[in-house]
Amino acid sequence: MAFTKTFKSFLINLGIMAGPSLKISDFAGFRKVLDSATKIAVLTGAGVSAESGIGTFRGPAGMWRTHNAMDLATLKAFEANPSLVWEFYEWRRSMAFNARPNKAHLALVEFENKCIKENRVFTLMTQNVDGLHIRAGSKNVFEIHGSLRKVKCTKCKLVYENTDVPICEALRGRGDPEKATTSDIPISDLPKCKNCSGLLRPDIVWFGEILDDNVLSKCVKALEACELFLVVGTSAIVYPAAGFAPFVQDRGVPVAEFNTDPISAVNFVFRGPCGTTLPEALGIDKE
Ligand SMILES: NC(=O)c1ccc[n+]([C@@H]2O[C@H](COP(=O)([O-])OP(=O)(O)OC[C@H]3O[C@@H](n4cnc5c(N)ncnc54)[C@H](O)[C@@H]3O)[C@@H](O)[C@H]2O)c1
Ligand SMILES: *[C@@H]1O[C@H](CO)[C@@H](O)[C@H](O)[C@H]1NC(C)=O
Ligand SMILES: [Zn+2]
Repeated sequence: MAFTKTFKSFLINLGIMAGPSLKISDFAGFRKVLDSATKIAVLTGAGVSAESGIGTFRGPAGMWRTHNAMDLATLKAFEANPSLVWEFYEWRRSMAFNARPNKAHLALVEFENKCIKENRVFTLMTQNVDGLHIRAGSKNVFEIHGSLRKVKCTKCKLVYENTDVPICEALRGRGDPEKATTSDIPISDLPKCKNCSGLLRPDIVWFGEILDDNVLSKCVKALEACELFLVVGTSAIVYPAAGFAPFVQDRGVPVAEFNTDPISAVNFVFRGPCGTTLPEALGIDKE
């Protein structure tokens, strides 16, 4: 039984049929919509950094020692054992700071620069905490889950940038995921606030915590105004980001998903590594 290409795309876009190859992705159709949109919003997740060597939280890469990474990214885990959670973050910080932006990050930068020249509005929202979008050169970017590049004092609440590795002497060489050692660094040796010497924590919005009001309202503004929405490398399970695409679709605005394993029923689906699909879709074809 032979489906025509468009009927196949229709089924894939409905989420009824899986697209077996990139060829099915409608790059030409997408480019028409992209070229006529004056306000473009993009949401990225862990998948955009996968090709930079930073693991996502789903699957085997989501384990650190014997712990599910998502169980460590909570206030409860930090309060129960700040030493263990700081080891986990020491490891994540060194991974993120040593990683380099990939073609997907760079395509978003080039596309934003093009938008600026053409007086179009480009907004990037990321769930990633690795700082790679900012290091790549993205300008209008909101890190809705915070950043590994910042710390927050548990006492005076001061937030500031700190990219030291190790972040303190006691954490030197710690955090190796292969070493299942117990973690018992005393609080007095863990990272301390430069203002009040209180215990620092990573400036990350942990699971169960609320997002920064200011950041969220800027995202909502972008979602309310955009004429095209791109969802890149996110499983879109974690709220509120999971609600972004449905919110935009409700206004009849087209949504495009870029994922190795797309799940949503949206207008455009580009299956494959976003380091390949995104530059092509955005017309950034340079090597
Ligand atoms: N790099 C990071 O900063 C990082 C890494 C892991 C987890 N997290 C946090 O964990 C939460 C997890 O949610 P999430 O949706 O961002 O990640 P996720 O791990 O739930 O999902 C990642 C998605 O990316 C897709 N993917 C994997 N490789 C890809 C590639 N090369 N190209 C395109 N897609 C690819 C997967 O199919 C999956 O749908 C977020 O809140 C985030 O803050 C952040
Ligand atoms: C620094 O700490 C003091 C308490 O020691 C606090 O009153 C003050 O608000 C803090 N400063 C900043 C900038 O957060
Ligand atoms: Zn402090």
